[in-house]
Amino acid sequence: MNNIHDQRLLIVDFGSQYTQLIARRIRECGVFCEIYPFDITEEFVREFAPHGIILSGGPESVTDGQTARIPTNLLQLGVPVLGICYGMQAMAAQLQGEVQTSDQREFGHAKIHQVVRSELLSALDFSNCDGVDVWMSHGDKVMHVPAGFVVTAQTSSAPIAAMEDPDRHLYGVQFHPEVTHTQSGGMLLQRFAKDICGCDGKWTPANIVDDAITRVRQQVGDDQVILGLSGGVDSSVVAALLARAIDDQLTCIFVDNGLLRHEERAEVEAAFSAESGVGNTLPLKVITVAAQDEFLDKLKGVEDPETKRKIIGATFIDVFDREAKKIEGVKWLAQGTIYPDVIESAASKYGKAHVIKSHHNVGGLPERMALGLVEPLRELFKDEVRKIGLHLGLPHSLVFRHPFPGPGLGVRILGEVKATYAQVLRQADFIFIEELRKADLYDKVSQAFAVYLPVSSVGVVGDARRYEHVIALRAVETIDFMTARSARLPYEFIELVSNRIINEIDSISRVVYDISSKPPATIEWE
Ligand code: XMP
Repeated sequence: MNNIHDQRLLIVDFGSQYTQLIARRIRECGVFCEIYPFDITEEFVREFAPHGIILSGGPESVTDGQTARIPTNLLQLGVPVLGICYGMQAMAAQLQGEVQTSDQREFGHAKIHQVVRSELLSALDFSNCDGVDVWMSHGDKVMHVPAGFVVTAQTSSAPIAAMEDPDRHLYGVQFHPEVTHTQSGGMLLQRFAKDICGCDGKWTPANIVDDAITRVRQQVGDDQVILGLSGGVDSSVVAALLARAIDDQLTCIFVDNGLLRHEERAEVEAAFSAESGVGNTLPLKVITVAAQDEFLDKLKGVEDPETKRKIIGATFIDVFDREAKKIEGVKWLAQGTIYPDVIESAASKYGKAHVIKSHHNVGGLPERMALGLVEPLRELFKDEVRKIGLHLGLPHSLVFRHPFPGPGLGVRILGEVKATYAQVLRQADFIFIEELRKADLYDKVSQAFAVYLPVSSVGVVGDARRYEHVIALRAVETIDFMTARSARLPYEFIELVSNRIINEIDSISRVVYDISSKPPATIEWE
């Protein structure tokens, strides 16, 4: 078998906000890599057997004696090492070069110029004498390179912007090749991963799918597997993958909680129907559970957002558990856990200051059901999950659908959830999304939705005054959903959506657009 994990890079995390981006760029070159914290042991690294190592940036200063250090032997393994920003400074300091804290932080765009020909930097085009655009974000500077190193690039304010010791295969760049502001930064990382570390491009959607199929088959044998299918990208891709791997040993359970978006249930059913071609030889087995009343009954009279979330989560577990028990011989529960979830929960064990989302896929289920877990997306970033989804034949509209929270419309109806409110919200949300698609704006925003505000606001219809409820529209732009800003949608567009909502939905008299940023506001309203 073509083992796609044989060639791999190790990314040592010093806490930079860009560490995951480094890994994503390396994967985009077709090379597998994994992120581990800086305090890994030498044995771990030997066992991991990387073809190359990348040291990430980080918020600290190497001039402070207490801060993170590279396990020194990493620099003596004979494996190529690339230090980025803090990674370069740590390399310089630990190999007896000199690093100083400067009074002025260099942040933002800068131009680098080549000093001597470099194996690594030849990936960049220096033919323009203006230099190459790079992204800088550092306070400290390397003042003297260690013995054996040469300076390969400089900027007007950093005389040592890159360095290398080609004999020992050690490289350092002060700038961030992983961010898109650095011109051809991806080419530089590719030069490192492929030419310098000698990795081929085996990490492709087709190979990832083949590998996942083989592993799932080995893991579950002839056992039955269940999966909670939500219509979101991750669970849909797991379903499509398992359909290929284990055919009719998989049963998906789709719970209609009454808090879904317009036509969501029909879309999921269509995506996995016999005609869709997503399964292997058979249509996917999907059990749809109509549990709208059960959810709405439990939510009756409940206004507190956290209580609502808890009720929705617990009811989901009840319903899922009940349905699963009806299926003979189930031994495994499949989940759409993805790599960022794995990194974040590992980082929290190390006490790092990562922000951890409080929600989880189907939290509580595995313990309660005493099933083994099948998590075929555990190694993948979201963009890789999407590529695999397309490779497996899932429709573009499903693969690139905006995220939707587990509690669904339950956290988009402020206060008490009622079936009538949910119906109105579905309609308003659908109008907004439909117009975004028509105006070619849907894929330009990261997430967009409507929120139901059950406050009475006056409207005039004919000669009569009416007090009706309000819809808020929310659209955000974000990279990681940890911070976000409201999308600058054209005024005419928002006005068009507002007119349609008010004209087409009797019980809405007013539409507002939410312009708050996260932080301090969150993306969802509850
Ligand atoms: P907030 O509102 O925290 O949302 O800024 C960040 C992102 O997470 C989604 N979200 C959830 N997703 N279960 C989920 O699966 C949840 O309970 C949940 N709450 C928020 C939200 O839609 C946004 O994309």
